[in-house]
Amino acid sequence: MTNFDLISKSSGDTLNIGRIIGENLTGGSVVALTGELGAGKTCLTQGIAKGLEISEGYYVTSPTFTLINEYPGRIPLYHMDVYRLSGSRDLEDMGYEEYFYGDGVVVIEWAEKVDDIIPAEALLINLEHIDNNKRKIRISSESGILSIIRVLKKEGF
Ligand SMILES: Nc1ncnc2c1ncn2[C@@H]1O[C@H](COP(=O)(O)OP(=O)(O)O)[C@@H](O)[C@H]1O
Ligand SMILES: [Mg+2]
Repeated sequence: MTNFDLISKSSGDTLNIGRIIGENLTGGSVVALTGELGAGKTCLTQGIAKGLEISEGYYVTSPTFTLINEYPGRIPLYHMDVYRLSGSRDLEDMGYEEYFYGDGVVVIEWAEKVDDIIPAEALLINLEHIDNNKRKIRISSESGILSIIRVLKKEGF
């Protein structure tokens, strides 16, 4: 497991971190976001959307009533928020495999609720509230994230 810890000092930082991650993602990636309410999961997803070249005309928000929001881009983004689910069984019922093992990038908020179905090679990102504007962000993965880490470092994170 490769880990990289960084500090975000503002929502703008988190957007930039997300953008850099999005720019370096390839189709078929699963990004599992964990962390409390207000930690910045949706903010990071908005950055990832930028990096995937999702049109600025879309406002990326947590899909609450629909389980999944789809956005076309350089690579399509499938954004899920599983907060209201009781567990991964609910995802099985909606045929999640089609998204997880498809060509798009899947970003899941509250991934801790469905950790039994997160693929081993997923990009795991935990966000932790430090104070009003500060967040600790830990990126980890079993598969190649060294290039993402290199770019994040180069951009000053
Ligand atoms: N460094 C930071 N990173 C991300 N969000 C931040 C940061 N500092 C303040 N915020 C604020 O915290 C809130 C995070 O909300 P959101 O991204 O919806 O969290 P979550 O999806 O984890 O519930 C936003 O209002 C955002 O402006
Ligand atoms: Mg959210």
